[in-house]
Amino acid sequence: MKVGIIGTGYVGLPTGVGLATLGHDVVCIDAVAEKIDSLKAGKITLFEDGLEELFRKAVESGRLRFTCSMKEGVGSADVVILAVGTPPHPVTKEADMKYIHAAARELAQYLTGYTVVANKSTVPVGTGDAVDRMIRDVNPAADFDVVSLPEFLREGFAVHDFFNPDRVIVGANTEKAANVIKELYAPFGEKARMLFVKRRSSETIKYASNAFLAMKINYINEMANFCEKSGADVFEVAKGMGMDTRIGAKFLNPGPGYGGSCFPKDTNAMAYMARGYGVEMSLIETTIRQNDARKTQMAERILNAVADIENPKIAVLGLAFKGGTDDCRESPAMEIVGALLKHGADIIAFDPKAMDNAKKLVGDKIKYAADAFDAARGADVVAVLTEWVDFKSLDLARLKTEMKTPRIVDLRNLLDKDEAVKLGFSYVGIGR
Ligand code: UDX
Repeated sequence: MKVGIIGTGYVGLPTGVGLATLGHDVVCIDAVAEKIDSLKAGKITLFEDGLEELFRKAVESGRLRFTCSMKEGVGSADVVILAVGTPPHPVTKEADMKYIHAAARELAQYLTGYTVVANKSTVPVGTGDAVDRMIRDVNPAADFDVVSLPEFLREGFAVHDFFNPDRVIVGANTEKAANVIKELYAPFGEKARMLFVKRRSSETIKYASNAFLAMKINYINEMANFCEKSGADVFEVAKGMGMDTRIGAKFLNPGPGYGGSCFPKDTNAMAYMARGYGVEMSLIETTIRQNDARKTQMAERILNAVADIENPKIAVLGLAFKGGTDDCRESPAMEIVGALLKHGADIIAFDPKAMDNAKKLVGDKIKYAADAFDAARGADVVAVLTEWVDFKSLDLARLKTEMKTPRIVDLRNLLDKDEAVKLGFSYVGIGR
């Protein structure tokens, strides 16, 4: 099938590469010329494990092209996928729909033949109706349907998640549109567990899922606080809980709070929508509040570990919002760095992939190291903020030789506490 994808970000690009790899003819469209120029020059614009290889092959096959022209990308498409950002309004936190609305109005002009317009961006419930109206206003003669096709991929696992979709939720209000999406996912065969629901149900499933996952993370973070006081070990508690298949073992890793471009945005947008309907979502509201407070508490935990030192030097390991990605948006690590800087801390940081993005946020307010040991050199404390697998295997004996005072604050419980204590580190973790 011919597919046009509007937006070449963390959702649009992996989706475009994936669909081209499956044999569809894909045109990725973006208004930012620099992005398109870079992609046309064969330079990928974001880090996702395994994406570069597939990207190159898909371009070489001629099934993946890039353009700034909506006409080129939409004109002959059977399916047009909207994968543009819906960033939170800085004050109200409601989803800002300007990119979706602009894309809808622009693509409407170029629709030819029956086309399915699929909202893959996370959009407020009812957006499908609004996009439908906008397209009809601009092009009353257009023959199209708007469906909701929410994205469930996790950053850092986008390629894996594309080819192994947990589920494909389709919000279609006509059989015809549903059949087009069925054809789009036909190459997946049985692997794609597809569920066809009303468009508004599909839009709600996305928010409901993310808010629930965020709540689950907040729950285990609160449980970690309890374990620290009660002498229990939160990892043993999480393991025991997770053995109950009704609870499930995933998303029970305590840490400095959830971050990223999804959970903070989606929990706030869900709460905002609910308030609009006069519905109280107390669990989500509490999750938002507790998660925000946690970042400050975690910064204090680091400062407390060096409270006896004048102008401590803090080595920070991890700046991305989670391991496996270069994305620093709403990163707990960056928020903690910000809180530490407010206290005048002297910070040197290392992150395997995210330092360029971090520099766009804090510039030279912090120093950047070549690796973990370079960061630890002369430091009074090493703080682990992001769950990079690389940090799990850190040579603690060598780390200690680099440091001025051997102190660790491990906000992801990645390092071996027993080994650290044996080596003479003072070790502060989470929930144990
Ligand atoms: C999330 C959803 O998982 C995905 O299905 C949806 O499509 C987009 O939003 P993502 O935001 O990429 O994906 O990251 P995720 O892996 O969910 O982690 C989100 C945050 O929660 C990160 O800051 C991560 O460090 C944190 N987290 C995750 C925990 O603190 N503990 C956990 O057990 C899991």
